[in-house]
Amino acid sequence: MTLTEGELAAWGRRIGSDVRVPVFIGLSGPLGAGKSVLARAVGEGAGVLEPMPSPTFNILFRYRTADGGTLVHADLYRLRSADELGGIGWEDVVGDEVALVLVEWPERAGRELPADRWEVSLGFPRRGPGLRRVEVRSCGDPPTLPGFPVRVL
Ligand SMILES: Nc1ncnc2c1ncn2[C@@H]1O[C@H](COP(=O)(O)OP(=O)(O)OP(=O)(O)O)[C@@H](O)[C@H]1O
Ligand SMILES: [Mg+2]
Repeated sequence: MTLTEGELAAWGRRIGSDVRVPVFIGLSGPLGAGKSVLARAVGEGAGVLEPMPSPTFNILFRYRTADGGTLVHADLYRLRSADELGGIGWEDVVGDEVALVLVEWPERAGRELPADRWEVSLGFPRRGPGLRRVEVRSCGDPPTLPGFPVRVL
C-alpha cells in the first residue's frame, strides 16, 4: 500500500501509543524512504518529549517514554559488521523488557536480529511524489502491530 507522509506519521503515532512492549521493529528501505519520519512519529505517539535527531552518526539513541519505558532509535547504516554491535550495547537493547526498539538498516545486524520482530519496508512507488510504498511482515511471534493499514481522510 502507499501512504502520504501524514498517513505514515499517523500510523507511527498509533504504533507508539498502542504497541505492546517489548517490540522490535526493523525499518528498511533506501535513503530518504521515510524510516526516520516513521521512527519520530512512533516516538511522538509513545510520548517521547525530546527531539529525535537522526542517529546516523551516534548509531543509537535511547529515550524515556510517557509510561516509563524506553524507546530506542538506532541507525545501523554506518556499522561495518555485526561484530560492532557489542560496542553500542545491542544486547541490552534486545534484552530490554520495556523497550520499543526501532532500527533503521536492520539488515546490518545480520544474525543478531531478534527472532520475534516486525520488518517494515518503505520504498518509492513508480509514481506519486510524496507517497511511499509500505510493506509489513512479521518474523517469529511479535506483538500485534496496531493501525495498519491506515487511512486518514
Ligand atoms: N509519504 C512519505 N512518507 C515519508 N516521508 C516522506 C513522504 N513523502 C515525502 N517524504 C519526505 O521524505 C524524507 C524521508 O526522510 P527520512 O529521513 O525519514 O528518510 P530515511 O529513510 O530515514 O533515510 P536515511 O536512510 O537517510 O536515514 C523526508 O524529507 C520526508 O519529508
Ligand atoms: Mg533515517
